[in-house]
Amino acid sequence: MNAILPAEPARDDVLAARPTLWLNSSYRKNAIETSELPISPADVQSARVNWQRLAPLLAKCFPELESTNGEIRSELIELKELREALGYRAREFGNVFIKADSHLPVAGSIKARGGVYEVFLFAEGLARDNRILADGEDIGKLATEAARAFFSKYTVAVGSTGNLGLSVGIAARALGFKAVVHMSSDAKAWKVERLRKLGVEVIQYEADYTTAVEQARDIADADPTIYFVDDEQSRHLFLGYSAAASELAAQLDERGITIDVDNPLFLYLPCGIGGAPGGVAFGAKAIFGDNVHAFFVEPVQSPCALVHMMSGSRELVSVYDVGLTNKTEADGMAVARMSAFVATVMREMLAGIFTAADNDLFKLLRMAWTTQRQKLEPSATAALLGPQFLVRHPEGQRFQAEQGIEGKMARATHVLWTTGGSFVPEEQFQNFLRQAESLG
Ligand SMILES: Cc1ncc(COP(=O)(O)O)c(C=O)c1O
Repeated sequence: MNAILPAEPARDDVLAARPTLWLNSSYRKNAIETSELPISPADVQSARVNWQRLAPLLAKCFPELESTNGEIRSELIELKELREALGYRAREFGNVFIKADSHLPVAGSIKARGGVYEVFLFAEGLARDNRILADGEDIGKLATEAARAFFSKYTVAVGSTGNLGLSVGIAARALGFKAVVHMSSDAKAWKVERLRKLGVEVIQYEADYTTAVEQARDIADADPTIYFVDDEQSRHLFLGYSAAASELAAQLDERGITIDVDNPLFLYLPCGIGGAPGGVAFGAKAIFGDNVHAFFVEPVQSPCALVHMMSGSRELVSVYDVGLTNKTEADGMAVARMSAFVATVMREMLAGIFTAADNDLFKLLRMAWTTQRQKLEPSATAALLGPQFLVRHPEGQRFQAEQGIEGKMARATHVLWTTGGSFVPEEQFQNFLRQAESLG
């Protein structure tokens, strides 16, 4: 018997590493307005304004953003063949979409929203503090050789399981910074190689993500020319992700989809340390309030947000504390201990968390490719299981009853956030497909 986790329906499954759905007993209405939080909806609004101000510079640094005038955004894609394959044909599954952050420009994953935002905001602040950029001056000036020469005196550092490192490394190098990425043992070789080709220094650890972040932070603390993107505490990362919610709101609106008390919205968000899914969920709460229900998804061996939030502990609880291994092929989610900042913000705002087994992630990867040609990495596929848990799992049905939405499911909209994949090299992707085939 494990004393850390309370006797809730999901506990036995969590401890046995079986896929399950945990409902957050602290979830409550209007939490974004009434809880004491270190962050507010006004901050989400400011992040949107910041993104807009940075857009002309982004368009100059990344040719692929010229067509969107510097906006980094992804498509909202309706599930058709994939919906059939997933068994979501029945009316009670409502509308089902994927939000294809797998194909986000610049970094090929949801990390483009956080990492690029924080690095560009840092560059702008540094340039203003050093009178490289004056008020009213064109921000595009930061893409000139003179600005690059100035930025080259500084280093941007980050700890990563892979994709955050890619996004921070790419953004930092695009502006002329030196960049150092501290990679956990889970990082895939192709991500390391891609960064090295860009001139990023990659330090690889035999240890897990938490250790990589700690080492990186210690090195940065000792050197004032190093700016450390701190995934365990960063408000900037969180707010960069949060702006995705207004993009989603506009896309739903364009399709004539209403979200209100009779037409709920469900978001399914792959979770590592919690920053990306937390930021998106927070941004969505700021727009849709109690009509959106955000669920995280984690690997069965790395459910760090689940074990910590379920424990109710003030001290962070890690997956090792409850006897799990943190071993998963879903490298983006191979995190043993969640961010304390995200835990605080999400405490009353997160509807629940479900878990996925690695074998299922590979099968889903193959399914998404063969049906709708969606190229995903294993971490990203986890979101596809969300509607099944909400509609079919006993805890999903309890959730519907508690929220009084049983009769509204046919009018609900499910958004499965597919968070990464387009940068996976072809050979590696074919390996993923073969691995899936061997599973039958
Ligand atoms: C593809 C993918 N999905 C989801 C996540 C989870 O993001 P976070 O660690 O901010 O929770 C990551 C993190 O790297 C990722 O790479």
